[in-house]
Amino acid sequence: MTDLSTQYLGLSLENPIIVGSSGLTRSVDTIVRCEEAGAGAVVLKSVFEEQIIAETEDIQAHVANVTWHPEAAEYVQTYSRENAVEQYLNVLRDARKATTIPLIASVHCVSAGGWTEFAKRLENAGADAIELNLFVLPSSPKRSGAEIEQVYMDVLETLLPKVTVPISLKLGSCFSGMAQTLVTFSQTKLAGMVLFNRFRAPDIDIENMTLAESEPFSSPMEYIHSLRWISILSSQVSCDLAAATGIHDGDAVIKQLLAGATAVQVCSTLYKNGLGRIAEMKDRLTAWMTEQGFETLDDFRGNLSQAESSNPADWDRVQFMKMSLNMK
Ligand SMILES: Cc1cc2nc3c(=O)[nH]c(=O)nc-3n(C[C@H](O)[C@H](O)[C@H](O)COP(=O)(O)O)c2cc1C
Repeated sequence: MTDLSTQYLGLSLENPIIVGSSGLTRSVDTIVRCEEAGAGAVVLKSVFEEQIIAETEDIQAHVANVTWHPEAAEYVQTYSRENAVEQYLNVLRDARKATTIPLIASVHCVSAGGWTEFAKRLENAGADAIELNLFVLPSSPKRSGAEIEQVYMDVLETLLPKVTVPISLKLGSCFSGMAQTLVTFSQTKLAGMVLFNRFRAPDIDIENMTLAESEPFSSPMEYIHSLRWISILSSQVSCDLAAATGIHDGDAVIKQLLAGATAVQVCSTLYKNGLGRIAEMKDRLTAWMTEQGFETLDDFRGNLSQAESSNPADWDRVQFMKMSLNMK
């Protein structure tokens, strides 16, 4: 019998496929559909620090300390009027009653400001864990890498003592000292990290010479970026690692597990191919494990991580030394 179960953030998942935070996990209805489609867990759509602050604190006092996007003030007023935070808690409460899979709440934050008290309310509303969607774009020449990394540490140090549910950190890959920084984060009481988020990036419309939206969905080859870092870090960090971005099929799930991932998060492939893709991924994983004679994920997890690989230097290689490609 093939057993796909795994422990992630101390939670029991029937399988390692988690639906990532997005419109797919925005409402009770869509969360129920993810469970019916066979997801191991879901991460709810992010609630924004700005929304929380707007409804719980003196927003003007907070704005003075944190750099928000210029649209933030208008955005915050709208959300504040709509009582979005209370709605978020209601979705969580109702989804908790309607499903049995682990529900991971998600907070997009950029500071350790007043929103952290709110985490307790997420916990009370039924969140089994909280994922922090935390990203500071290193676009200011006045802000050093060390200062930016300190923002992450401040958030962790402020939040971790306040909650009892596990906390995970969903990260971008803009760290010059990636291994050292992520190992340091993992040595707090953090339960897991998600490598990596895929952010909205502006594009240019050359006909109208204006800014344009870029493709919101990943392509299937994008998984190779997180694959390298999962493989390098899985034996070095002191917490779970979930792989994310570009995981579109069962083969990519298997590769991330071989690199040492505890679980994977999927989003674009479900938008493009429908929720039925979850069952296809599980079927592929089961068939492959049967062919290989593996009964549990632990039988092969991390077998091709950098620490276990027979050729560890290959995971560090970045230049094309021998490969030459012919052009037509
Ligand atoms: C429409 C859309 C909405 C998203 N919203 C969020 C969000 O609220 N919070 C978050 O952490 N990630 C969000 N994401 C990022 C996804 O959770 C995921 O990390 C990213 O799309 C990369 O995974 P993928 O290649 O499987 O799509 C969103 C992605 C999409 C396409």
